[in-house]
Amino acid sequence: MERWRWLKVVALIFLLSASEGRELRIKHEDYSHIYNHTLATILVEYASAVYMSDLTALFTWTCTRCNDMTMGFEMIELIVDVQNCLQAFVGVAHDLNAIIIAFRGTQENSIQNWIQDLFWKQLDLNYPDMPDAMVHHGFYSAYHNTTIRPGIISAVQRTRELYGDIRIMVTGHSMGGAMASFCAFDLTVNYGIHNVELMTFGQPRIGNAAFTSYFHKYVPHAIRVTNGHDMVVHLPPYYYYFPQKTYHHFAREVWLHNIGLGSLVYMVEEICDGSGEDPRCSRSVSGNSISDHLQYFGVELQAETWGTCRIIMDNNIVQDNSFIQFQTDLAGNIKLSKDPAVSSILKLSSEIGSRSSSF
Ligand SMILES: *[C@@H]1O[C@H](CO)[C@@H](O)[C@H](O)[C@H]1NC(C)=O
Ligand SMILES: *[C@@H]1O[C@H](CO)[C@@H](O)[C@H](O)[C@H]1NC(C)=O
Repeated sequence: MERWRWLKVVALIFLLSASEGRELRIKHEDYSHIYNHTLATILVEYASAVYMSDLTALFTWTCTRCNDMTMGFEMIELIVDVQNCLQAFVGVAHDLNAIIIAFRGTQENSIQNWIQDLFWKQLDLNYPDMPDAMVHHGFYSAYHNTTIRPGIISAVQRTRELYGDIRIMVTGHSMGGAMASFCAFDLTVNYGIHNVELMTFGQPRIGNAAFTSYFHKYVPHAIRVTNGHDMVVHLPPYYYYFPQKTYHHFAREVWLHNIGLGSLVYMVEEICDGSGEDPRCSRSVSGNSISDHLQYFGVELQAETWGTCRIIMDNNIVQDNSFIQFQTDLAGNIKLSKDPAVSSILKLSSEIGSRSSSF
């Protein structure tokens, strides 16, 4: 008797799951104002595209990852800090009526080495003008002390002059997520922009609990998507018995994980609590997977080839399109910009020659 009742319950659960398709969202209450699944699947594609090394295809939004949910994206500025091997872009997603800012993750020789180093990162910088807030100097500098920040800020300002006060969505994966977090914080704290939203994928911890409190205050619309056993989201480590000394994630985590067995496996999006370190979410499993780090929502989040800061660019793009500005500095860092006012009138020539240069 008992067993039959149990079987019925199981059957009902599977029926309910099946009717929801392959994705099942656990909802304890209505979280739709906090987390939007559709938006996550769009932003993950921007976080993936920013890894592309063919700058021509990326700038003209014709790259192999520049389609699907991001079609029609208007690139405003593509910034490549060659010296530090960093890449980011700013543009307008007209369908979202939003400015998108995306940061590339690390491009070092091996992801394994990069992850190993994360274990030992110290909280070694006092965040300026934020008493008690400590962050990791390396992540902070990647955004604040490279050509990335001035490029982003000027592009955001030019874009806002034309499109007005539309919302800004900042995204990135892995170290790109760490940079995206510093960028979102910078835009609100130092530039007084209030409609900034952040959504990162598989980002490491970047600061301590005091920094997290400031972060919640200035960037309330922040989502950190984590995936299964992704190793990077567990790093640098969180030591719950040293609350004053440890790194601490900011909220709100959304943890993607699979439940079920065999052919009946469903992806669950767990909306975590407001602490940033919800023990029911990614912290409930061990962080032992690199492959869970490199794919979110089935989207590839790494460069096509590892190991080099390879850049491919077609010189014709600049020659054929006088409204595209190409700037390099003494260190060889690159900035490709479009005047949004001009580019909204002109159309990019679709015939791009095959002459490429790599450096
Ligand atoms: C979620 O985001 C999509 C894409 O921006 C939007 O069309 C939809 O209305 C949003 N849903 C909610 C509940 O806000
Ligand atoms: C910024 O970078 C330069 C050289 O890359 C370095 O000398 C300087 O100490 C850095 N400043 C900070 C605040 O990290």
